[in-house]
Amino acid sequence: MSSPAAHSAQAVATLATPREAFVTRRRALGARLGRPALVCAGERLSRNYRANQYPFRATSHFLYFVGASIPRAVLFFEGGEVTLFAEAHDPDDALWHGPAASFEELRLAHGFDAVRSLAELEGALAPHRATVAVLPPQDAAAAQSLARLVGRTVSPCGGDALTGPDAELADAMIALRLRHDAAALAQLRRAGQVSAEAHLAGMRATRPGVTEHAITAAMLSVLRRAGMDDAYGPIVSVHGEVLHNERHDGVTAAGDLLLADVGGETAEGWAGDITRVWPVSGRYSSSQRAIYDVVLGAQRAAIDAARAGTRYRAVHEAAKRAIVTGLCDLGIFRGDVDGLLERGAAAIFFPHGIGHLLGLDVHDMEDLGDRAGYAPGRTRSQAFGDGYLRLDRDLEPGMVVTIEPGFYQVPAILGDARFTGAVGRDLDRDRLAKFADVRGIRIEDDVLVTADGPPEILTQAVPKDAAEVEALVGAG
Ligand code: GLY
Ligand code: MN
Ligand code: MN
Repeated sequence: MSSPAAHSAQAVATLATPREAFVTRRRALGARLGRPALVCAGERLSRNYRANQYPFRATSHFLYFVGASIPRAVLFFEGGEVTLFAEAHDPDDALWHGPAASFEELRLAHGFDAVRSLAELEGALAPHRATVAVLPPQDAAAAQSLARLVGRTVSPCGGDALTGPDAELADAMIALRLRHDAAALAQLRRAGQVSAEAHLAGMRATRPGVTEHAITAAMLSVLRRAGMDDAYGPIVSVHGEVLHNERHDGVTAAGDLLLADVGGETAEGWAGDITRVWPVSGRYSSSQRAIYDVVLGAQRAAIDAARAGTRYRAVHEAAKRAIVTGLCDLGIFRGDVDGLLERGAAAIFFPHGIGHLLGLDVHDMEDLGDRAGYAPGRTRSQAFGDGYLRLDRDLEPGMVVTIEPGFYQVPAILGDARFTGAVGRDLDRDRLAKFADVRGIRIEDDVLVTADGPPEILTQAVPKDAAEVEALVGAG
């Protein structure tokens, strides 16, 4: 067992947001609120028995204002001041978890107006129970304890159904978190950079016969060495057509494409989200290369379209058009592109949205429902494919979004007339059979919308040109 001194000697350099940036964010929320509000860090969750707990990560709203995960802590915004209510520690905690900061140390370190014991929160809230606003917690246990505290029903993950004070608070959070400040952008650049390095390691570790687990380990090792957790469950699979494939128990073989959708989060919780697809043998087959280049062309067109003032739905449409055009050029679709798009051709192979907001959550603020992703008055399409578009706002400088078109041969889609019927024989299945070694391709980068001109690509340290990718595979 190592001593605390040994721990600090091994500590990795992390990027710390200055205290003043958090104070500024808290003041900005206070200025937007006409009422008291609570922002909770959340409860600890157990894996199986009580003492065996998942690593604690505070809610992203709490991290936005504090930058550290303090279990069960609650921020109380009231009358222009912010008080942190935190658990008082007993000597047993010191035995199991090491020494904890005192309330005064917490106050000074984070610049709160006051730090008080969680046991005092109920009393402090009493005069404000009728007016206090809260955010929807992520799990039932947190919802229950919050409901007890504020004396009314609170639903977990209830973002879309919020009304009254809670809706006002959610909208204020969205207004703050939609466009990132300089400190947030520094975190997102770091997440993008390290996540890109993880992909380089994954490419270098790949050769036929290596397991998906081993490639995953090579990638996560880069994140861990940089002091980062995963921002979401890593997808590392030769079955890229399973969009959220959680399994890594396959063995790669020459001829396979490997899809890796892996991103880290900084110590303060900011996410990277990258997908690359590389050939296990180090060389794309001609059919793989043809489809890869169609997806890459669509991704580049979509990135170029991601400019301030452009509606994100138009970015999605640009990618759909590029994919359908490319598939026509390859003889997989027949007919005119506009007509094919109207008949839903894009969703047969590209059944998800072009991307999403990125920030402290990999799908940023999705806990607040479509209130965050959809501008007022805009709602989800009912159409297959377009219905999975997670963002339909006009892009603004300072927003970070992902751009992630794909091509997948999903048997459950290709075999179902509900999805293919309108295109009918204009989908040339004999021609498609020539591309049977392409199961799933997605290419994903994180981009910052700029005031003018094309976006800044935060994840460009990992190549995506086919030849550059090929040169990296197996080079480790
Ligand atoms: N990694 C999840 C996503 O790309 O949306
Ligand atoms: Mn994504
Ligand atoms: Mn992803």
